[in-house]
Amino acid sequence: MLLKQFSNNRIIVDEVSSTNTEMLEMSHNKDLATGTVLIANNQTLGRGQRGNNWLTEPEKNLTFSVYTNPKIKVEKAYYLNIIAALAVNKTLQDLKIEAKIKWPNDILVNRKKVCGILVENQINGKLINQSIIGIGFNVNQSNFDDLENATSILNEGISIDKTDVLNQIYNYLDFYYNLLLESNFDLLLKLYYNNMFWYKQIGVFQVGYETFKAIVNGINDFGLLHLIKENGEHHFFDLKEIKFCL
Ligand code: BTN
Repeated sequence: MLLKQFSNNRIIVDEVSSTNTEMLEMSHNKDLATGTVLIANNQTLGRGQRGNNWLTEPEKNLTFSVYTNPKIKVEKAYYLNIIAALAVNKTLQDLKIEAKIKWPNDILVNRKKVCGILVENQINGKLINQSIIGIGFNVNQSNFDDLENATSILNEGISIDKTDVLNQIYNYLDFYYNLLLESNFDLLLKLYYNNMFWYKQIGVFQVGYETFKAIVNGINDFGLLHLIKENGEHHFFDLKEIKFCL
């Protein structure tokens, strides 16, 4: 695989509040090279999507952020989620673990979440000036207490050094990032659909108090989830509106 964009600068710290927050602060203080990665052994205030916390046992898992400056159009921002999800998914497939991407970018194994991704962008005019791609990947944690929908690679039967996992995700992220900079949107979308959970299948969803079945028809040009209900109606949802019933 050709590495064309990422610098391979690595910063390893013992503890931060959140690698995404810390990396944003670092980017204010100095110019960071694309591909700079900040890895923490522990996060005290890990952040997830929809304002949730990201809780993870210290030392056992991967919590890291990758700095990029893609300069792509704002309306293509959702492709940053796509490339991150593809990088993690491919890493798992290399380990012979059957993983799927639950829109937009949760990675599931046996319908349980093994990895969450938080992409945070800085916009300048019509372009994405910088994008911090934060990845929380459960590697060696075996006990998730009351988080019944969480798993780790260890719980899926594979014991592996977390640095090896990081290296592989990083290399694939570099690869897919390169496709993004080349505006290879069709290929990225095709790869995404090949790995998308419930793609062209009937799933069960919840919107407000309503639970319904619908076919996952992909995403639209704004990155919204496209569902077709049993009565044939097409609906589009953003992340805050819909829940998958797993
Ligand atoms: C999610 O809600 O699924 C997204 C979780 C993202 C967690 C990662 S861990 C590294 C980076 N730093 C954070 O504070 N969050 C992301």
